[in-house]
Amino acid sequence: MSENNVLKRASAAGLDNVVAAETALSHVDGEAGRLVIAGYDLEVLVASHDFEAAAALLWRTAGLDPAPDESAVRRQLGEARVAAFRLVPLLLASTKGLTVTEGLRAGLSLLSDEGDLPAHIRAVGAVPVFVAALCRREKGASAVAPVAHHGHAADFLRMLRGEPASEAEVTALNAYLVTVTDHGMNASTFTARVIASTRAGMISSIVGALCALKGPLHGGAPGPVLDMLDDIGTRENIMPWLRREIAKGERLMGFGHRVYKVRDPRADVFNKAVTLLTNGNERVLFARDVEKGALAALREAKPDQRLDTNMEYYTAILLEALGIPRSAVTAVFAMSRVVGWSAHVMEQERVGRLIRPQSAYIGHWPDEKAA
Ligand code: ACO
Repeated sequence: MSENNVLKRASAAGLDNVVAAETALSHVDGEAGRLVIAGYDLEVLVASHDFEAAAALLWRTAGLDPAPDESAVRRQLGEARVAAFRLVPLLLASTKGLTVTEGLRAGLSLLSDEGDLPAHIRAVGAVPVFVAALCRREKGASAVAPVAHHGHAADFLRMLRGEPASEAEVTALNAYLVTVTDHGMNASTFTARVIASTRAGMISSIVGALCALKGPLHGGAPGPVLDMLDDIGTRENIMPWLRREIAKGERLMGFGHRVYKVRDPRADVFNKAVTLLTNGNERVLFARDVEKGALAALREAKPDQRLDTNMEYYTAILLEALGIPRSAVTAVFAMSRVVGWSAHVMEQERVGRLIRPQSAYIGHWPDEKAA
C-alpha cells in the first residue's frame, strides 16, 4: 500500500475531519488556536463566568426548556451535592481497590434515570462529592459532607481537604472548570452523543462518556505528565530524557492534538492561572523548561508533524498546585466536562436521529473461502 493510502486509511480510522454533528456549544479552530464556547472566546468566558454560570450558559445554549438561570443552577447543584452524599457509603463499599476514575464510573452508575432533580443536575452535582470521597479514602480519611450554599469549586476543595480553600485557589479551580466545560466533538462527547442517540438517557450517556475520557490519549494524560516531570528531575536531564523517550517510540504526554496544530489556547489559560496561584514557583519554572525542551525535541525528531503543547500539560501543573492528587486529575476533568456532555445529550436528543454509520467490510466473502 502506498504511504498516501496508509495515511488516508489512518485518517479514516480516526474519522479525521468528519463532521459528526451540528452544535451551538463550542467550536475549535485548530489552525488559529481559538476556542469559542457558546459564543464567547475562551479567555472572555473564563474572565466573566464561574463554573455554575458557565453551566447555566451551556444548558441554555443547548435549548434546555425552561432556560435555566444562574441562581437556579447554583441552588440545584447544591441540592444535588447533598443528595449525592447519601450515596457515598454505598459508593465506598462497592469500589474497594478501584482507582478514583473507576470509582467515579461506578458512582455515576448508581444514579437513577429518574429523580426529584433533573438527571443532568444530579450527575454534575454528584461528581465532586464522589471524587472527594474517593480521594479521601486513598489516604484513609472519611468523607466530608457538602454544604449546599457553597460554590461548586469551593465546596469540592473543602470536601477534598477537610478545610476551606483560599479565594485564589477557588478562582484558579473555577478558571480550570470553565475552560474545560466543552471542546467540540472530542472522543468522550462523541460517545455521549452516540449513546444519547439511542435514547438511553442522560445518565447512561454520561457514564459512557467518562469511559471514553479515561484513556491516556484523551483525559488520562495529566498524571503521566507529572510522572515525566518527576522522572526528568533536573534541568541537565531534560534533553537526554526527552530524546531517549522519543527514540524509544514513546509519546510525550501533554503534546500533540488531533485538531490543534498550534498551541492549545487552554494551555495558556492554565499557565496564567498556575503562575498567579504559585507566584511562578520552581515547579512551574521547571515545567516551562521541560515544555521548551519537549517542543525542540519533537521538532528535531518529527519535523513533518505539527506537535505543540496541549492543555493536559498545564492541567497537570495547575491541579498539582491545587493539591489535587495525581490519581484524581482525570476525574476532576470529568467534574467539568460532565456539563458539556450533558449539554450535548440535550442537543442530540432534540435531533432525535440514531447515529448509525457504516463500516467497510474487508473480510473474506463466502464464495472466496470455498474456492
Ligand atoms: N509525542 C511524540 N510523538 C507524537 C505525539 C507526542 N505527544 N503526538 C503525536 N506524535 C507523533 C506520532 O507518533 C506520529 O508520528 P509518526 O508519524 O512518526 O508515527 C505523528 O505524531 C502523528 O500522530 P497521530 O497519532 O496520528 O496523531 P493524532 O492526531 O491521532 O494524535 C494525540 C493526537 C492522541 C493527542 C497524540 O498527539 C498523543 O498521543 N499525545 C500524547 C497524549 C496526550 O497528550 N493526550 C491528551 C490530548 S488533549 C485531550 O484529549 C484533552
